[in-house]
Amino acid sequence: MHSLITGCAGFIGSHIARSLIDSGDTVVGIDCFTDYYDKKLKEENIKGLLKSDRFTFLKEDLLTTGVLEGILSKTDCVFHLAAQPGVRTSWGKNFEIYIRNNILVTHKLLESAREFSIKKFVFASSSSVYGDSELPMKEDGMTRPVSPYGISKLTGENMCSLYGKSFGVPVVSLRYFTVFGPGQRPDMAFNRFIRAIIKGEEIIIFGDGSQTRDFTYIDDIVRGTIKASRSGKKGVYNIGGGSRMVLNDAIKLIEDITGKKARVKYKKKEKGDVRDTFADIGKARKELKYKPDYDVKKGLEKEVEWIKATSGV
Ligand SMILES: NC(=O)c1ccc[n+]([C@@H]2O[C@H](COP(=O)([O-])OP(=O)(O)OC[C@H]3O[C@@H](n4cnc5c(N)ncnc54)[C@H](O)[C@@H]3O)[C@@H](O)[C@H]2O)c1
Repeated sequence: MHSLITGCAGFIGSHIARSLIDSGDTVVGIDCFTDYYDKKLKEENIKGLLKSDRFTFLKEDLLTTGVLEGILSKTDCVFHLAAQPGVRTSWGKNFEIYIRNNILVTHKLLESAREFSIKKFVFASSSSVYGDSELPMKEDGMTRPVSPYGISKLTGENMCSLYGKSFGVPVVSLRYFTVFGPGQRPDMAFNRFIRAIIKGEEIIIFGDGSQTRDFTYIDDIVRGTIKASRSGKKGVYNIGGGSRMVLNDAIKLIEDITGKKARVKYKKKEKGDVRDTFADIGKARKELKYKPDYDVKKGLEKEVEWIKATSGV
C-alpha cells in the first residue's frame, strides 16, 4: 500500500508512519514544521523514519504546495493529520491559524483527492467536536464545540462528509480522545505534569481537578486509525481509550509511577475546556474491530519511561 500522511512530523502522524513502514508499506510524509511547539521535537519524530527507503519526507506547507497531485496519483490511502492543535490557544486572532491549517488545508486536500481514485481518506477529527454534550459521547449525538479549535475540527469533518457525498471521496473521520504516550506533544497535560513532578516543580490545573477525560494510548490510536484505513467503512467513529478518569486520579498515578509528590496549584477553569469526555466506542468496536489494549496506568508507565530516557529529567 502507498500512503500519504499529512502532519507526519507531529506526534500522532509520526507514530502512524512508523507502524505503516514496519508493516511493509510505502509512505510519503508531508509537514511544514509549524511553530506551535519546538521544531526540534518534530525533527526527532521523523529521524528514524528517514532511514527507510520506503519513506519519503517533503517539507511543504499543504496550503501552498504544488506537489499534491503528483503524490495523490500514486496514493492508496491519505491519512490527514496536519492541523493546528490546542484548545485554549484557539481564541482571538489566533483563530486565523486554525482556519488556515484546519479548514482551508482540509478543503484543499479534498479538492485534490476528488480527482484521483484513492481507496481511503482518513481525517483526524477530535472529541472537541462534542463540547459539553451528554456522556458517553456517541457519533450520532449532539456536536456543540466549546472552543474555536473544536469548531475548526467539526468544519473539517463536515467538509470531509460533503466531499464524500458530492464526489465519492471515501472518507472516514476519527474522533480521537486525548492521546498520550511516548512522543506526546509538549503542550499536553500528561507531558507537562510528568516533567514537572519529576523536577519537583509546581503544576497548574485549570478547575478543581475533578474533570474527567477519556485518555487514549498512542498505540491504540495507531491501530484504530490503520484498521479504519483498511476497512470498507466510511463515516464517523470515536476512537477512545475505553474508560474515563478523573484528572486528580491521573496525577496520583503519576506520583505512584515516579515515586514523587506533585505540587498542584488549582486555577480557575479556562474557556474552551470541556468538563468531561467519555467516548462510546461501540461503533468502532463493532464495525472496525477496534479494541483499546492500554489502560491509563500502563500507558503512563510508558510515557514516564520515554520522558526519562529522552530528556534527562
Ligand atoms: N493529540 C491529541 O490528543 C489529539 C486529539 C484529537 C485530535 N487530534 C488531531 O490529530 C492530529 C494530530 O495531532 P498531534 O497531536 O499529532 O499534533 P501535532 O501538532 O504534533 O501534529 C500536527 C502536525 O501538522 C503539521 N502541520 C500543520 N499545518 C500544516 C500545514 N499547513 N502544512 C503542513 N504541515 C502542517 C504541524 O507542523 C505538525 O507537525 C491533528 O489533526 C489533531 O487535531 C489530536
